[in-house]
Amino acid sequence: MASSVAEKLAGVRVADGDGWASVAPNLRKNLVVLSSEEIELAKMLLHEGQKHLFDHWPEPGVDDGRKKSFFDQVARLNSSYPGGLVSYIQNAKRLLADSKAGKNPYDGFTPSVPSGEVLKFGDDHFIMLEEVGVREARKAAFVLVAGGLGERLGYKGIKLSLPVETTTGRCFIQHYIESILTLQEASSRQAQGQCKAEIPLVIMTSDDTHSSTVDLLESNNYFGMKSTQVTLLKQEKVACLDDNDARLALDPNDKYKIQTKPHGHGDVHALLYSSGILDVWRTAGIKWVLFFQDTNGLLFKAIPASLGVSATKGYHVNSLAVPRKAKEAIGGITKLTHTDGRSMVINVEYNQLDPLLRATGHPDGDVNCDTGFSPFPGNINQLILELEPYFEELSKTRGAISEFVNPKYKDSTKTSFKSSTRLECMMQDYPKTLSPSARVGFTVMDTWLAYSPVKNNPEDAAKVPKGNPYHSATSGEMAIYRANSLILKKAGAQMADPITDVFNGQEVEVWPRITWSPKWALTFSDVKRKVEAGCSVSQISTLVINGQNVFLDSLSLDGTLIVNAIDEAEVKVTGSVQNKGWVLEHIDYKDTSIPEKTRIRGFGIQKIEQLELSYTEPGNFCFKS
Ligand code: UTP
Repeated sequence: MASSVAEKLAGVRVADGDGWASVAPNLRKNLVVLSSEEIELAKMLLHEGQKHLFDHWPEPGVDDGRKKSFFDQVARLNSSYPGGLVSYIQNAKRLLADSKAGKNPYDGFTPSVPSGEVLKFGDDHFIMLEEVGVREARKAAFVLVAGGLGERLGYKGIKLSLPVETTTGRCFIQHYIESILTLQEASSRQAQGQCKAEIPLVIMTSDDTHSSTVDLLESNNYFGMKSTQVTLLKQEKVACLDDNDARLALDPNDKYKIQTKPHGHGDVHALLYSSGILDVWRTAGIKWVLFFQDTNGLLFKAIPASLGVSATKGYHVNSLAVPRKAKEAIGGITKLTHTDGRSMVINVEYNQLDPLLRATGHPDGDVNCDTGFSPFPGNINQLILELEPYFEELSKTRGAISEFVNPKYKDSTKTSFKSSTRLECMMQDYPKTLSPSARVGFTVMDTWLAYSPVKNNPEDAAKVPKGNPYHSATSGEMAIYRANSLILKKAGAQMADPITDVFNGQEVEVWPRITWSPKWALTFSDVKRKVEAGCSVSQISTLVINGQNVFLDSLSLDGTLIVNAIDEAEVKVTGSVQNKGWVLEHIDYKDTSIPEKTRIRGFGIQKIEQLELSYTEPGNFCFKS
């Protein structure tokens, strides 16, 4: 039997003992339409100073369905945050007070350079680490964080659906999945006799990306991965805050809805923990968890060696990094030691690192050392964690990650905000709670090999100060061609120098357009094995290799060559290939008659002439032109 209003009221007195009516009269009137669970939530909200949420509520009988859905949302917000809404509001009050007081989060900490590995692409050590990494990969699980709004890029679809490069049109998620499957194959081959590995992939989505991600995977048959290998975990947004008292903001378009915004990629840890998947992985013998992001087409060139570093160094946490010029706008990996003895190795944002150094006895702040780079390497937010210590830590924290708040104040009194704010958290802040005995290190690789994300729209990219990375669709694609050309060069091929050109207002190096499927080469040793002496490629050339056993031997290319081959076909390509090839055409990103995927690059490919070789039957073949 439903309890009477009087009984309900008895339980809903707030702390000051004022009684219900004086606290939230409009809610009081509506108790008759609420369930006891909803009343519990209401009680909690009132206790946390949220009575304003009910100020506009009309009499029972008006909008009752919307009042119920308000509590559905409150229940969701409550269950998806570690510690519930009470913790969220209390954390918000504390962080907002710290922000108002201008409290420095690094007070009492002294920065120093942590220890890590700096790798040189292609040397013996690098090759050895790649071998170790491939061997370890069968004990790896990948986690792709792909819940972001992508506001800076402004692309209408999900970023995972964008082509990594235009010669093949292969999109990011396809490239990632094919790379993981290739690692799986290569790693299983190395561990002959043991059962074949299946490397799991988790994708963290959000309401903004979930259904498009599912559609993309399903309509492409998971790009060759078993659907059971892929787990999607959807992050929830968090409540927005209207003022320093952490009063929750109502949605300007719906007064029965709390306004929400993304909480950041740090959610991935709590989601992995609460989903129970970490336990499944432990039972399955998984040892490494690799976190990566939605649009870095170079990443898998850095994965085998970095995983090799984790395994050989026994790192619990390995942050992938690139060389960073002093004061460059990218976070620096830093060891922080507190006066009370605590220490941690974490990412410190560039605008905090320099003042922190100055305040702790380094009058010049962040300066380059004799390598020409800052001793604090640039964090690229790809992490390799050892599962067992990760699981132990999460068992204590439930995956809660240290948060921050970034309100935009109306004026210097810091009493009101220009627009609502919310708490945020970042995946890379995971090491903040680790004990000093945790083995936290980094792996530095050349930027050209490891990092070229697609984050900025053409207009903003064109405004990037000279010398800084554009991080646009244009630079992301050109980085693939540059990396592949440099790798072939290191393997002994004669590669033409790049020319410079300007697309969408961005000056970039244009190297020969070389692409290969992950199957062709995952490591530098693979490339060296498949590129024999005497190969040369001219600047106007395009080379697309789609096949595992394609070997280039004294090939001279001046034009476009595409080689497709099934795994069972071993193909040697030799001789001189010359044709008019494929030409890059300039495109204006404002020309809306051109698909957005293309115009955000500022160029399209005009296919004038090419040689396409396709091998669909098993056997040994030699093509000589
Ligand atoms: P970005 O910093 O690129 O943020 O995120 P974003 O949200 O995608 O883009 P902007 O800032 O709105 O322009 C780095 C990675 O973290 C994921 C993104 O999908 C991307 O892979 N991410 C970001 C999440 O998964 N969840 C979030 O709440 C935020």
